Amino acid sequence: MTKARLVILASGNGSIAQSIIDAVASKVLDAQVVGLICDKENAQVIERAKSAGISEFLIPMKSDRKLWDSEIINTLEELSPDLVVSAGFMRILSAECVERFRIVNSHPALLPLFPGAHAVRDALAAGAKETGVSIHWVDSGVDTGEVIAQESVSISASDTEVILHERIKIAERKLIVATLQTLLADHVRS
Ligand code: GAR
Repeated sequence: MTKARLVILASGNGSIAQSIIDAVASKVLDAQVVGLICDKENAQVIERAKSAGISEFLIPMKSDRKLWDSEIINTLEELSPDLVVSAGFMRILSAECVERFRIVNSHPALLPLFPGAHAVRDALAAGAKETGVSIHWVDSGVDTGEVIAQESVSISASDTEVILHERIKIAERKLIVATLQTLLADHVRS
């Protein structure tokens, strides 16, 4: 049987992407990462993909947003993924893209609380006592798609945004792999 084809979308450091790459390499995930798409030049995640021998596609945002949307869709079409994993990808995908592909996203908050690009900062500013991580299906809204899995992380009075985010990411790296295991098992059965 051919392995499920994963494409990772990421914008920055890529530690969440790395947890997926490692899980595939160690066969914890029965899948192949057929490509990594990044929108930011010089992002650390590009080096991570290169080191793992994964084809990387740099697609920086363009002044013509529609052109960028089509480039993302065309690249995904060529890679023909069974599942796309948005792991620290700081861009909103077009409605056409999210309708065309099965896409999951990892978000550093307990959705529907604190959607958007500053989830950790927003949780601290709101004085929340806990936050966490959500893995959810991507729809055309901002972090509005159906939640698949969540795990909470408590907030302590001394937390800064960086410290709290790092603690959330520890939970995130495990939860994304566990969730992908479940989704890939469903993929094999269907
Ligand atoms: C992760 O916490 C991810 O959930 C978040 O960016 C971080 C990427 O970390 N994504 C979002 O906030 C998207 N709204 P990484 O670069 O170390 O993988």
